[in-house]
Amino acid sequence: MKIDENLHWILSFYRTSEISGALFFGELARSLRPSAIQQDMTRHFADEANHARYWTDCLEKLGVEPLKLPVAYQNQYLAAAGMPTNLMEILAITQVFEKRVVSQYSLHRESPDVPDIVTETIDTIMEDEKWHIQWIRDALTEMEDEYGADNIKDTLRRFTLADREVYQKTAQEHKERLGELRLATK
Ligand SMILES: [Fe+2]
Ligand SMILES: [Fe+2]
Repeated sequence: MKIDENLHWILSFYRTSEISGALFFGELARSLRPSAIQQDMTRHFADEANHARYWTDCLEKLGVEPLKLPVAYQNQYLAAAGMPTNLMEILAITQVFEKRVVSQYSLHRESPDVPDIVTETIDTIMEDEKWHIQWIRDALTEMEDEYGADNIKDTLRRFTLADREVYQKTAQEHKERLGELRLATK
C-alpha cells in the first residue's frame, strides 16, 4: 500500500515527537529523588517510548519507513517559553504540552479519510495521554503550598501562550502537509 505523502510526514512527526518526550522525561526520571513524582515520571517516560513504538509499527503496517525529521517540536517550546527553572515549571510546561498532544490526536482522529490503523493507534495512545494530564494536574495541585497557587496559574498561562505561538507557527510552516487536518484554524 502506498500512503499519502502528507500522512507519511505527519505520522513520522508524531513518532519523532513521542521519542523526544520519552527522552526528556527519561532524563527527568533519572535525576529525580525517590518520590511519587519519580514513580509517575518513570511510568510516563515508558509510555512515551511505547507511543514512539506504536507509530513506528503503524508506519510499517502502512508500508512505509519513518522519515527522519530534523528539529523536534518540543525544542521550539523551550525556545518560546524559556527553560523551566524548577520542577513545578517542568510539570507546568508538560501539562500544557500534553493537552496539545491530546487535542492534536483528537483533531486527527476526526479528520476525513483516516486509515483504521491510524485511528487504532491514536485510541491506544490516548488512554495513556489522559493519565499523563491527570497525574501532572494532581502533582501541581500538591505543589500549591510550596510554590503558590497563583504562581502556578501564572506559569501555566505563560506556557499556554508559548504553546499557541509555537503551534501556530508550526501549522503555518507545514500548511500543505497539515491542511487536511484543519490545523491552521485551531
Ligand atoms: Fe505520548
Ligand atoms: Fe504524553
